[in-house]
Amino acid sequence: MNTASTRNKTALVIGGSRGIGAAIALRLARDGANVALTYASAGAKALDVAAAIEAQGVQAMALKADSASAAELQDAVGQAVARFGRIDIVVVNAGVLHIADVAAFSLEQLDRMLDVNVRGVYLAIQAALPHMPAGGRVITIGSNTAVRSGHPGSSVYSMTKGAVAVMVKGLAVDLAPRGITINNIQPGPIETDMTADMIEMVKEWIPLKRVGQPDEVAALAAYLASTESGYMTGASLTIDGGMSL
Ligand SMILES: NC(=O)c1ccc[n+]([C@@H]2O[C@H](COP(=O)([O-])OP(=O)(O)OC[C@H]3O[C@@H](n4cnc5c(N)ncnc54)[C@H](OP(=O)(O)O)[C@@H]3O)[C@@H](O)[C@H]2O)c1
Repeated sequence: MNTASTRNKTALVIGGSRGIGAAIALRLARDGANVALTYASAGAKALDVAAAIEAQGVQAMALKADSASAAELQDAVGQAVARFGRIDIVVVNAGVLHIADVAAFSLEQLDRMLDVNVRGVYLAIQAALPHMPAGGRVITIGSNTAVRSGHPGSSVYSMTKGAVAVMVKGLAVDLAPRGITINNIQPGPIETDMTADMIEMVKEWIPLKRVGQPDEVAALAAYLASTESGYMTGASLTIDGGMSL
C-alpha cells in the first residue's frame, strides 16, 4: 500500500491516548503526518504518545478535550488549526463501553454513552469540517456490534455504534460535493484496556480464534486516510476475524 500521500498532512485523532486511537495516531505519524490527539483523562499517556510521534520526525500535540463537551472539542480543533493551519484527516475514535441489562442501565450511563459515542462523534466532525480542504478524510471507529449484537447487556453500545454507521452514510452524501470522504471502521474484539476482562471469553466466538491488535485496525485507518481510498465513502468496514459472519 502506498501511504506516501499522507506525508505532510495534518491529522486530528479524537481519543488518541490509548488503545486503537494511540495506534492510529502512531501509524499516521509513521506515514508522515503531523498529529494532534485528544484525551479525556489519561494526560500522561497522551504525552507519551505525542513523544513517540515526535520521535518519528513529525510534530505532535496532546490536547485535553472531553468528547462530551462541545466547547472542549471546539477548543481542541482551534488549537490544532492554530498550530498546523488546517486538518486533512480526522479520526473520531473516542468511545466508552458500559455493559448492563436493560433493567439495570442507569440514566447517567445511558447519557454518557450517547454523549461520547454518538453526539461527540458528530460534534467533533462538525468542529473540524470548516478547516478541511478538498481531499479531506474523515474516519470514525464504530464496532462490529452494529452488525451482530450477540452479547448480553450490549444493547446501548450496539445502538451507539449503529448510529455512527448510519451517520456516516448521511455525512458521506453531504461531504461529497466538497471532495471529502468519510468511512467507518467496525472492529471486533481488539486487545486494549476496554476489552481486558473479556479477551479470553470472546476468543472462542471468533473464527480466526484470536482477538485483533490495535495495529491491525491502524493499518486499515492508514488506507482510509490515504489518497488510494478516494473512491470509497459512506462505507462501514468490519475487521473482526470473521466474528460477525
Ligand atoms: N477494543 C475493542 O475491542 C473495540 C471493538 C470495537 C470498537 N471499539 C471502539 O474503538 C474505540 C477505541 O477503543 P479502545 O479499545 O482503544 O478503548 P480504550 O483502550 O478504552 O481507549 C479509549 C480512548 O478513547 C478516549 N476517550 C474515552 N472517552 C473519552 C472522552 N469522553 N473524551 C475524549 N476521549 C475519550 C480515551 O482517552 P483517556 O485515555 O483520556 O480516557 C482513550 O484514548 C472506541 O470507540 C471503541 O468503542 C473497540
